[in-house]
Amino acid sequence: MKISAILLTSFSGALAFAPTFHVPKFPSSTSLSANIAVFGASGLTASECVYQALNNGDKVFGLTRNPSNLVIPKGSGGDKADQKLSNPNLTLIGGSATEAGDVAKIFEGNDIDGVVIALGGKTKDVGTTMLTDATKTILNAMKANGVKRVSVVTSIGAGDSKDQAPFMFKVLMATVMKNIFVDKNNQEELVKSSSDLEWCIVRPGGLTVEPPTGVINVIEGEAGSIARADVAQFCLDAITVDDFPYINKAPCISSVGGTSWVKDRSAKARDGME
Ligand SMILES: NC(=O)c1ccc[n+]([C@@H]2O[C@H](COP(=O)([O-])OP(=O)(O)OC[C@H]3O[C@@H](n4cnc5c(N)ncnc54)[C@H](OP(=O)(O)O)[C@@H]3O)[C@@H](O)[C@H]2O)c1
Ligand SMILES: *[C@@H]1O[C@H](CO)[C@@H](O)[C@H](O)[C@H]1NC(C)=O
Repeated sequence: MKISAILLTSFSGALAFAPTFHVPKFPSSTSLSANIAVFGASGLTASECVYQALNNGDKVFGLTRNPSNLVIPKGSGGDKADQKLSNPNLTLIGGSATEAGDVAKIFEGNDIDGVVIALGGKTKDVGTTMLTDATKTILNAMKANGVKRVSVVTSIGAGDSKDQAPFMFKVLMATVMKNIFVDKNNQEELVKSSSDLEWCIVRPGGLTVEPPTGVINVIEGEAGSIARADVAQFCLDAITVDDFPYINKAPCISSVGGTSWVKDRSAKARDGME
């Protein structure tokens, strides 16, 4: 909590204004439905992925150590925020993404079309190699099950985006977040070396629980903040839009500055998922 507050402050620095495009929050869900796996399902970003995918008419298979923590997210949930999230199209499994047996339960017989990995937590709770270990386990399961698409939430500052982190964030990366960034960098390397998969590494700036703005900008320079609800939309688009422009790329995203990714959730955009 404390770190988030620091992050938000450090991300609120002045950023060059760039034109942005607004897209509808939940456009017609006439599109073909997909079977989507979400790892870390109870998390603040992951629960946005779960909730938005269900609202799109998709079937969701979520894995989290503590299923009872899954609630309707604040950002997209509106009046329903914080209520228990249950839906006949949601299969929620209690287990760890680092355990091959638990991960296998998500894939077995479920005909998964795409995977979102939105894991996180403090190293003293999750350990120093959880992101890397879990990602290895999940990517192996994808390969074993012939699943191609995956989006992975890491962070601004990870891998070759080191220089895109604002100054205060670089200080945190070198100190309190040092271990987390070793794990994130290793996680990214694993994903990038999966040449047989269609991956997107999603590197958000400082995260908020605000309602979705529909403005998701890919940033070449320093990235500002973004709502988890918008990050979730980008992650879902990365695994459901056939010609998603950031496949095998690792964009930094923010709601301020840069060039926009404009969502197209039409049936045409999702053709080819079946
Ligand atoms: N805060 C920021 O400003 C910021 C900025 C940029 C990037 N990020 C990164 O963005 C990512 C998402 O952040 P967030 O705040 O949405 O995450 P979060 O709320 O901390 O959620 C992470 C989820 O991972 C799950 N998890 C942990 N270990 C697990 C395991 N072994 N198996 C299955 N699930 C596990 C946890 O659920 P259980 O406890 O139920 O297992 C938790 O709900 C994180 O990697 C974070 O570092 C954050
Ligand atoms: C479940 O998904 C189907 C499409 O796969 C959809 O028609 C139905 O409305 C969904 N049910 C709920 C409760 O969201």
